[in-house]
Amino acid sequence: MKKGSETVKRIIFGHVGACIILLCVVPILFIGHQLFWGFEIKVDQTPAESLEEDLIVVGFSQLGSESGWRTAHTASIQQALTKDAGYFLIFNNARQMQDNQIKAIRSFISQRVDYIVFAPVIEDGWDTVLQEAKDAGIPVIVTDRMVNVQDDSLYTAWIGTDTREEGKRAGRWLETYLEQKQRQTEEINIVVLKGTIGSTAEIGRTKGFGEIAAQHGNWHILESVTAEFTANKAKEVMRSMLRRYPEMDVLISQNDDMTMGAIEAMQEAGVSYGEGGDVTVISFDATRDALELVKEGRINVDVECNPVQGAYVAEIIQKLEDKELVEKRYVVEENIFTRENAAADLGKRTY
Ligand code: AHR
Repeated sequence: MKKGSETVKRIIFGHVGACIILLCVVPILFIGHQLFWGFEIKVDQTPAESLEEDLIVVGFSQLGSESGWRTAHTASIQQALTKDAGYFLIFNNARQMQDNQIKAIRSFISQRVDYIVFAPVIEDGWDTVLQEAKDAGIPVIVTDRMVNVQDDSLYTAWIGTDTREEGKRAGRWLETYLEQKQRQTEEINIVVLKGTIGSTAEIGRTKGFGEIAAQHGNWHILESVTAEFTANKAKEVMRSMLRRYPEMDVLISQNDDMTMGAIEAMQEAGVSYGEGGDVTVISFDATRDALELVKEGRINVDVECNPVQGAYVAEIIQKLEDKELVEKRYVVEENIFTRENAAADLGKRTY
């Protein structure tokens, strides 16, 4: 009897316990997921509401949420394509996977959205799905990174940044800096943290910086390693490079998130960096957090990559709605920040 009642207790408390755990854990997991990935409308949701309100339906495939820059880019599109402005926006986060973007675009086509906007994770591999969008008569606006397609008519317009010029700006800044320090004839050892291989930002910045580096026989790129534009990966990669290249003079980090990770690794290793330090730090993006470090002299220079592209996307769509011609390429304006001008810009910075 005693044994039986203990079994009953175990069953009852076991079930009650399991229910309590489920009731606590499931909402925590749900909230955690929403906080981490952001609230989003599922790609297969039917935009019935848009029909009732006569809204322009836009499917937006964002490549991921890997960086602070990306968050700002997503916000810029969402703030431009609001209901008040006449849009019904279907958002999908591809989590840095091209397959997810292709699925999202196909889903937008099957929902017969009015426009597809997308930020491609890499340049290659879009011909088939963009041909499907073209066959369905849906204009495609590419934003941020570029696509490498055989036929340019597969997309209507591209709005983004000149990443090759960004790379050149970094190289030209280093030239001037070394001259000012009278180190222009010294052997200069450089390591590079690259972004996602095959993405426009990685291709352009590598090429642009490489063109300037090629003019200096004393600049040595010891190693270029991808850290996927993320801080965590960069910290790992940088730890290993610091061990292998104690002679490192310059770090080129292709975005601010990776720079933050690399800085943590240098701090851990007791390596001095930034103004007056052993490692000169060159970064890209110029987000608010990074500009604070530029102001403090912990990042020597930050080459801007402007994520505020939403208004241009809305302008392009509006022109297309009005049957006006649109430019094929729109390049946003960008700056370069050092300790001299970072503080002045911080006050008005939106990202
Ligand atoms: O394509 C733009 C790049 O992608 C930004 O430099 C980077 O921060 C982002 O992840």
